Amino acid sequence: MSVRRLAPKEQQPASFAFTAENLAWAQAETKKYPEGRQASAAIAILWRAQEQHEGWISEAAIRVVADLLDMPYIRMLEIATFYTMFQLEPVGKKAHVQVCGTTPCRLRGAADLIEVCRSRIHHDPFHLSADGNFSWEEVECLGACVNAPMVLIWKDTYEDLTKDSFGKVLDGFASGNPVKPGPQNGRQFSAPAGGPTTLKETT
Ligand code: FES
Repeated sequence: MSVRRLAPKEQQPASFAFTAENLAWAQAETKKYPEGRQASAAIAILWRAQEQHEGWISEAAIRVVADLLDMPYIRMLEIATFYTMFQLEPVGKKAHVQVCGTTPCRLRGAADLIEVCRSRIHHDPFHLSADGNFSWEEVECLGACVNAPMVLIWKDTYEDLTKDSFGKVLDGFASGNPVKPGPQNGRQFSAPAGGPTTLKETT
């Protein structure tokens, strides 16, 4: 787990404003909760702000979301800096890769995936590739251990990866034609690799 700080001042945009469509969506989101409990919409609205702003959240966006929910800035800063789903500095335009590095993924080859990130994107996490299109980081368990090793890119997981299949996932984002999310070894969801092993008789 890395230290999570806001991007330096020189990278921060002066302001942030939701598009009309996103603002309407955010306001509808706050109405899902009882009066006085609007803070419950914080994560969903921060996420929308991140999607609107090239995959990362600026300080200005954090303040806008806090104002929208009538929350102190420090509370929204706490949320944005706590959850690794929120990126606090610029990320790759085409893909920010979150590689799971927790034990099950490690045992199944996460180190190979990190090696691919180091050679194809940048040696160090949270650095943009030379063309600005990719970035990567190592994260804790993403809840898909049965399909280890895996990565999360934006909202989708790519699972049962090898060096080669992960390379193809990156190729897909580079060409603007991402491969289908989920297992990359032909397996159906988390069903046994190679097909059913039990309950095969129909009688
Ligand atoms: S350990 Fe990698 S998804 Fe759980």
